[in-house]
Amino acid sequence: EAEFENITLDQDGPLGILTINRPKSLNALNIETFREIAEAIMLIEENPEVEALIVTGGGDKAFVAGADITEVAELEGAFNGRDLSLQGQDIFQQISQLPFLTLAAVNGYALGGGLELAMACDLRIASPGAKLGLPEATLGLIPGYGGTQRLPRLVGVGRALDIMISGRLVDAREAHSIGLVNEVVDQPLDRAKEYARNVLSKTAPLAVGLIKEAVRRGMDTTFGDALEIEADLFGMAVATEDRKEGTQAFLEKRKPNFKGE
Ligand code: CAA
Repeated sequence: EAEFENITLDQDGPLGILTINRPKSLNALNIETFREIAEAIMLIEENPEVEALIVTGGGDKAFVAGADITEVAELEGAFNGRDLSLQGQDIFQQISQLPFLTLAAVNGYALGGGLELAMACDLRIASPGAKLGLPEATLGLIPGYGGTQRLPRLVGVGRALDIMISGRLVDAREAHSIGLVNEVVDQPLDRAKEYARNVLSKTAPLAVGLIKEAVRRGMDTTFGDALEIEADLFGMAVATEDRKEGTQAFLEKRKPNFKGE
């Protein structure tokens, strides 16, 4: 097992659990934490046993309260800032491109880089007391780890501009009503595990990866090109062993036995 100081990486059967664990700073993302997250993603990608990933925060107050403001305060000039942004964007892109289900168990504050991390996951499950937001403008900043792009894609341009320009915190209830979180439950980590296990027991893993790819690539292009991407990926799904197994199992009225092939 790898030794980390600011995160923990655990395995619960087929589930990888990445916990950002600096509770004294509300799990703020400093450079060192980012480095460890990048290493954890590499380990997860290399581990064939991990079939879904859950990201959560250590302690009982926060998921992640953003980039570490003590470090951001030290930044000088445009270049440094641009560099930091590119690095953060890159790591969150790697998370969003994982070919299996990723869930954020939002157990408290998910602000700035913390919400950006949660938005890089496929789904967000929040505790009733969670507060989400992109308050960067209150610091003289803008979201820099994908937030200006992922938030409008999730909740629409008008709502995203409201949240970013005002810098206000959105409670779990409102976040649920605008589609920023998928569910609100008392124990988001337990629920995330249950959700993931249910997905793994029912769906073909390659199909899940292809759905994610179709949505992600489709959002980046025109509707016409996106339909072509869908058709290509549909073709790939049809070519899998699991497609034969899934359709055959349906016709035989039995549970499919997917192999990820
Ligand atoms: N960076 C560094 N330290 C942080 C932090 C952050 N993002 N968020 C909280 N902390 C620290 C606090 O400084 C405090 O440390 P001390 O005990 O040493 O004073 C500790 O965590 C506990 O926090 P608070 O005392 O502030 O707790 P609270 O309950 O009063 O408030 C909060 C909680 C509303 C989340 C508040 O901590 C807060 O507003 N945090 C900052 C949120 C924010 O602005 N995030 C955006 C960061 S910028 C960014 O992310 C840029 C980007 O997109 C690239």
